[in-house]
Amino acid sequence: MGSLKNEAEVQEQSNEAILYVNGVRRVLPDGLAHLTLLEYLRDVGLTGTKLGCGEGGCGACTVMVSYFNENMKRCQHHAVNACLTPLYSVEGMHVITVEGIGSGRYGLHPVQESLARSHGSQCGFCTPGFVMSLYALLRSSRTPPTEEQIEESLAGNLCRCTGYRPIVDAFRVFSKTDDLLYTERSSVPNVGEFICPGTGKPCSCGPKDASTKETTKQSSGCDSSLKPVSYSETNGSEYTNKELIFPPELLLRKLSYLSMTGFGGLKWYRPSRLSHVLDLRARYPDAKLVVGNTEVGIETRLKRIRYPVLISVAHVPELNTVTVTDNGLEIGSSLRLSEFLEILQKVTTQRPYHETSSCRAFIEQIKWFAGKQIRNVASVGGNICTASPISDLNPLWMAAGATFRIIDCKGNIRTTLAEKFFLSYRKVDLASGEILLSVFLPWTRPFEHVKEFKQAHRRDDDIAIVNSAMRVFLEEKDHQWIVSDASIVYGGVAALSLSASRTKKFLIGRSWNRECLLGALKVLEEDIVIKEDAPGGMVEFRKSLTLSFFFKFFMWISYQMDGQKSFVEHMPSSYLSAVHSFNRPSIAGSQNFEIRKHGNSVGSPEIHLSARLQVTGEAEYTDDAPMPPNSLHAALVLSEKPHARILSIDDSEAKSSPGVAGIFFAKDIPGDKMVGAVIADEELFATEIVTCVGQPIGVVVADTHENARNAAGKVYIKYEDLPAILSITDAIKYKSFHPDTDRTLTKGDAELCFQSGECDRIIDGQVQVGGQEHFYLEPNSSLVWTIDGGNEVHMISSTQAPQKHQKYVSHVLGLPMSKVVCKTKRIGGGFGGKETRSAFFAAVAAVPSYLLNRPVKLTLDRDIDMMTTGQRHSFLGNYKVGFTNDGKVLALDLEIFNNGGNSLDLSLSILERAMFHSHNVYEIPNVRVKGRVCFTNFPSNTAFRGFGGPQGMLITENWIQRIAMEVRRSAEVIRELNFIGEGSVLHFGQKIEHCTLERLWNELKTSSAYLSAREKVEQFNLQNRWKKRGISMVPTKFGISFTTKFLNQAGALVQIYTDGTVLVTHGGVEMGQGLHTKVAQIAASCFDIPLSSVFISETSTDKVPNASPTAASASSDMYGAAVLDACEQLKARMQPIASKHNISSFSELANVCYMERIDLSAHGFYITPDIGFDWKIGKGKPFSYFTYGAAFAEVEIDTLTGDFHTRTADVCLDLGFSINPALDVGQIEGAFIQGLGWVALEELKWGDAAHKWISPGRLFTCGPGSYKIPSINDLPFKFKVSLLKDAPNVKAIHSSKAVGEPPFFLASAVFFAIKEAIIAARADAGYTGWFPLDNPATPERIRMACVDEFTSPFAGSDFRPKLSV
Ligand SMILES: Cc1cc2nc3c(=O)[nH]c(=O)nc-3n(C[C@H](O)[C@H](O)[C@H](O)COP(=O)(O)OP(=O)(O)OC[C@H]3O[C@@H](n4cnc5c(N)ncnc54)[C@H](O)[C@@H]3O)c2cc1C
Ligand code: FES
Ligand code: FES
Repeated sequence: MGSLKNEAEVQEQSNEAILYVNGVRRVLPDGLAHLTLLEYLRDVGLTGTKLGCGEGGCGACTVMVSYFNENMKRCQHHAVNACLTPLYSVEGMHVITVEGIGSGRYGLHPVQESLARSHGSQCGFCTPGFVMSLYALLRSSRTPPTEEQIEESLAGNLCRCTGYRPIVDAFRVFSKTDDLLYTERSSVPNVGEFICPGTGKPCSCGPKDASTKETTKQSSGCDSSLKPVSYSETNGSEYTNKELIFPPELLLRKLSYLSMTGFGGLKWYRPSRLSHVLDLRARYPDAKLVVGNTEVGIETRLKRIRYPVLISVAHVPELNTVTVTDNGLEIGSSLRLSEFLEILQKVTTQRPYHETSSCRAFIEQIKWFAGKQIRNVASVGGNICTASPISDLNPLWMAAGATFRIIDCKGNIRTTLAEKFFLSYRKVDLASGEILLSVFLPWTRPFEHVKEFKQAHRRDDDIAIVNSAMRVFLEEKDHQWIVSDASIVYGGVAALSLSASRTKKFLIGRSWNRECLLGALKVLEEDIVIKEDAPGGMVEFRKSLTLSFFFKFFMWISYQMDGQKSFVEHMPSSYLSAVHSFNRPSIAGSQNFEIRKHGNSVGSPEIHLSARLQVTGEAEYTDDAPMPPNSLHAALVLSEKPHARILSIDDSEAKSSPGVAGIFFAKDIPGDKMVGAVIADEELFATEIVTCVGQPIGVVVADTHENARNAAGKVYIKYEDLPAILSITDAIKYKSFHPDTDRTLTKGDAELCFQSGECDRIIDGQVQVGGQEHFYLEPNSSLVWTIDGGNEVHMISSTQAPQKHQKYVSHVLGLPMSKVVCKTKRIGGGFGGKETRSAFFAAVAAVPSYLLNRPVKLTLDRDIDMMTTGQRHSFLGNYKVGFTNDGKVLALDLEIFNNGGNSLDLSLSILERAMFHSHNVYEIPNVRVKGRVCFTNFPSNTAFRGFGGPQGMLITENWIQRIAMEVRRSAEVIRELNFIGEGSVLHFGQKIEHCTLERLWNELKTSSAYLSAREKVEQFNLQNRWKKRGISMVPTKFGISFTTKFLNQAGALVQIYTDGTVLVTHGGVEMGQGLHTKVAQIAASCFDIPLSSVFISETSTDKVPNASPTAASASSDMYGAAVLDACEQLKARMQPIASKHNISSFSELANVCYMERIDLSAHGFYITPDIGFDWKIGKGKPFSYFTYGAAFAEVEIDTLTGDFHTRTADVCLDLGFSINPALDVGQIEGAFIQGLGWVALEELKWGDAAHKWISPGRLFTCGPGSYKIPSINDLPFKFKVSLLKDAPNVKAIHSSKAVGEPPFFLASAVFFAIKEAIIAARADAGYTGWFPLDNPATPERIRMACVDEFTSPFAGSDFRPKLSV
């Protein structure tokens, strides 16, 4: 091998490093090797690409990278995560961002247009990422993509608002309609033909006009408002001219050798030949090789590991070769997984079937490997050399008998078996100076079968809990099929991928029959040992999975061998359910609503007013605002302990860290140190005692975010540990409650009823309800600056409560509120998480800004945001219920506790709402509900969609379901039997009026064909032993109003300009829910002007003072009414003028009014009438009205692994006369999927007694890598949403009803359907009694509840997996 004496000798090195971004050539200066592509793009002003997580887990940063692939001799286009892409790794390439494909000014790209028109963008923060994922797919597909490919391309993109259905509908047209743009082959339907969003196919019920006043219109999934757009409709030909081409310069210019530097002496090399790699390796034996950077990026950015020299080997031709030989497949180590997949797919069609068993197993496993963006860059060698114990592919290499070729810096090559390559935790058999050259995958022989297995928290884009690869080679000897060779390898059970060697030994030489299965299972039990305190926990589950996987393998092999001569192992047909793998059909969504128009705009399914800005990336969020000159970035100094005394703080090293402008602690706060949402019980910066991990102790400001973060890490704090309360149970035990938070509500006399003998049965039990992270896609962010030398303070903040920011900041700075202004244009999702906790962080940023008189921005990293800003409260409920043998409930005695964390925040109101909702929709004559807020050493928990209501109702539905089991009737029958009705008086004194519950319920029962669905499910369950289905119907009733009376007020400012346009400002915040759109519709209808004449710019505390947070679902009701009030005042002022003159337009009227000196600005105000509650007597009317709903769900579970999917969800809500049914449908779908996350996917794991492997008080699940919100794959196969027709609400504006929170709880139908499925599985194993199931019903809980011979060696039938509560 040649030697590289100095870099100048490298002939191919180009003179300058360049990059094309959106067709514009940019020279990349040296010194930026530490930057990611995302940081660079945002620094140069392309802020359409968002930072959602920084760890490749959300897709908000997706861009398309194009380069000329020398090997393939063609241009390749890939979606990548810019947050994990090192800047220099795209040198010589073309990057297209969302700004590059379309804009408001020059026209939207069809992908953007379709998404906007289909209501696929709510808060918009995820939107550019979705647009770019599809765009890259379309650019890279030579034929129109299938619907499956489209959904697959979106697996790496998360959305927390929409519930995905409208995104899928928006995009599916690209698989069906005119592909002329990319393929020169049109598949557009006939001109004028309408594509139904429900089916993606041409359909006869096309758009109809609905512009008349007070009209009624039926819609069933084919309404024009929900219609995606096709290329032809947006003039695709015109667009072709605008499409950015691959820059010709880059076609001529090869990707060449590159040597660059970065911050802190970092060296970055991109060798272009293997010889260069080896020379560099000789020179820097400990240099880090990097290909996709999906592992190294996480190490350097999240784990803060420093690698001084990085060698990017992604484009070294010798490491990218693929050779097909007679014996197998030789794959270069730098080959990207998406390319590897393509090759595997090709060889499976070209080689004899029996040769490609391993290839097929790889194909199946890669299907569930990360998202598309990661697979497009992550390499085969990177995965191998990371040697992760949960690598999905390493068990397959090992089982398939692969060999690895290793080369040292002198060019010597050696070969080793994959099985021998992994030595210990993340340690492989590579000496210093050696690298992995290639991998050889042998073909399989006839009757040699390889199979993959993986179980994760979430099916799509998740790392495995346990995975496995198994191989047997069977040979027929003496009329028996004997195991000639075998390999059983597991991931996720030890520090490295582990071969079950004793099991292998046992299998070899045995006949493949039931006896062999039972014997192997016994050996396996001893072979794979997971220690009690193993990192990752879930020990019983993981052990059970090892057996379940083997059983599935045994069945699968038997299925493969079925029909072979002398193969005698026949399985019962019901066991086929252990063999068939999950297969999802295309999603079918339908929406059913009527349009009740009021005026020209109210009632119309208008598109979100910012949708077009959001799909082009032009919509600005707080972090996108340009930083003023002299700005600083802030980072927090956080507590590492759950409860401790601060002994000393040493910030000397931090002070001298690069770029630092100042470090501030409690002593520096100019005003009051104590803050709080309701009572001031929190220190802005801890002084003597810390009460949770993640509590701010100080703040560092520096010239860059990175420098601030680095310096914050250099503040050393000594602590003295104090005892910590880390669960509700501990809090109860040690009587650790927030002061004055005990509450009681009573009706009748529950105790007397229990004693009276009226109840046929009395049961008691405990319900644990897990917490939930908001996971708004936009992390908390505030930019604060001073004006007039510090006399005034202004800020822009991502918050639902600008007024709270104003108040907190004025409080800690000691300034009057009149000198502090907070503005919010829009936020990237809030869900309650930005109602109070965000104000805390604005106040933190304000301190250095005020003291230094410089602008300061504090944008929380995703992990910090999750660790510090609180979540949905976990709850514990102890119930005692008395009922008749029919299931009629007579008495309820309930005690509920919520986990408040280390400050009160809104926990008391949340507890109260849980108590108000703790009967859900049931009439109970005797009730006693008691509640307490627990003080624990966790970050303060806070508001989250539903505000305690869902927790209260989930506890109710738990005991309802238990009654059903006790009296052997269906839960639906018990529900119906106990429904409240018109005139019912609830346990807090409110009378039920205008109740639509029964109507809703019956309509849903019909539309979901509940009875026949139940029969079909029972049939299915009889025929399938290892897969079970369950159905459930759940009702809800959600009280509308803030239960704190004074918050039920709203202000608005309406200004008419002389051109007839109207500027509305109100106190509510646009967070994706479409509040501004609805409010603008109300103003447009009132003035009878086009919606486009009304504009809402932002929310600002200097326009509308003292606004309540945008919360409690009531914002449209309240701000809509306040705006209407202002509009009516203006109309009244203008009316005399209008009647005096012959006026032809609103602009003319406005102008004439101006000339006549009429005030064209009005302040509107609204208070919710007729509400109030007195806690002293526990009676009153806390709610203005109730929103009712019901949902039906059908699920299927894999009892062997705990995997589940929702087959059908049918949701029906009473929303009165909807102001905008399209937005309301969006709220329902989004809330339902978010609720599905709460009940079945999202588990917070804290360092507590249940999770000893996590350090005390620390949140383990603090990023999308470990905390799994629903992805596109979790959508129900059939998702139907209906709004109850002809049900006006007399209590709110234009007869509408509030929508934001009520649908959330309906996802519990999925939870109870899962429980029904588990009941069926347990019955097969002989367990028919009631059992508890905690939420979330994760694969672990599902699997462990499905008691069978594979769980029983490790856990009893009453086993309850650990949950942080
Ligand atoms: C969001 C996300 C999801 C993920 N999902 C999964 C998943 O589902 N399943 C799974 O198994 N993994 C998953 N991973 C882990 C990771 O993506 C894979 O391990 C990936 O294959 C690593 O490849 P890379 O090219 O990006 O590695 P890099 O980060 O570039 O490198 C990884 C390591 O390999 C070394 N290396 C690379 N090439 C060589 C070579 N030729 N010789 C010697 N050493 C070399 C590097 O020095 C480094 O130590 C995920 C990661 C992320 C960020
Ligand atoms: S920000 Fe890049 S994937 Fe989340
Ligand atoms: S619209 Fe997707 S996260 Fe808000």
